[in-house]
Amino acid sequence: MEKIKIEKMTLDDIDEVLEVCKNSFPIPWSRKSFEEEMSNMLATYLVAKLDDKVVGFIGLWFVMDECHITNIAVHNEYRNKHIATELVNAMFEYCKEHETSYVLLEVRSSNVAAKELYKKFGFKEDVVRKDYYKNPDNTREDAIVMSLEIRN
Ligand SMILES: CC(C)(COP(=O)(O)OP(=O)(O)OC[C@H]1O[C@@H](n2cnc3c(N)ncnc32)[C@H](O)[C@@H]1OP(=O)(O)O)[C@@H](O)C(=O)NCCC(=O)NCCS
Repeated sequence: MEKIKIEKMTLDDIDEVLEVCKNSFPIPWSRKSFEEEMSNMLATYLVAKLDDKVVGFIGLWFVMDECHITNIAVHNEYRNKHIATELVNAMFEYCKEHETSYVLLEVRSSNVAAKELYKKFGFKEDVVRKDYYKNPDNTREDAIVMSLEIRN
């Protein structure tokens, strides 16, 4: 595989990020959500590109000494090639810049791949947010809050 490039996401990347999203989530984020995030002073979005095409992304909010992972996805044709691992590693570089002490995220309780990804980096499961996520059939699913303390 060609080398993956990790870059800051720009408005020009939104079409391809939306493709990754549609391919990855039962209820994908809208274009408007990403456009708003591009002008959110707290947000940093990174894209993983292969041959200049977006194959994955991660969304981060830096608030005080915390980093919140808002979203992460890799197009299903490119999974299990450590692209999410590269995105999370890139996140840690931004955490250094922001002097981050904690990284937090919510994940669907059924999402084994994402939970295993985060556990690989030392994230622990903290609390359950009951019925946090909506499913396309209007049922709900719990979120698990996961966190990692960073010792700088
Ligand atoms: C979760 C996701 C981003 C992982 O992307 P990826 O590029 O395939 O992940 P990586 O190849 O970097 O895998 C890293 C680790 O995650 C774990 N992992 C990844 N996919 C897994 C799976 N299907 N089952 C179990 N563990 C898995 C493994 O521990 C893996 O480490 P290893 O290869 O050394 O064993 C991807 O599956 C995805 O986009 N899913 C849909 C969107 C989503 O659910 N996002 C999470 C929102 S919180």
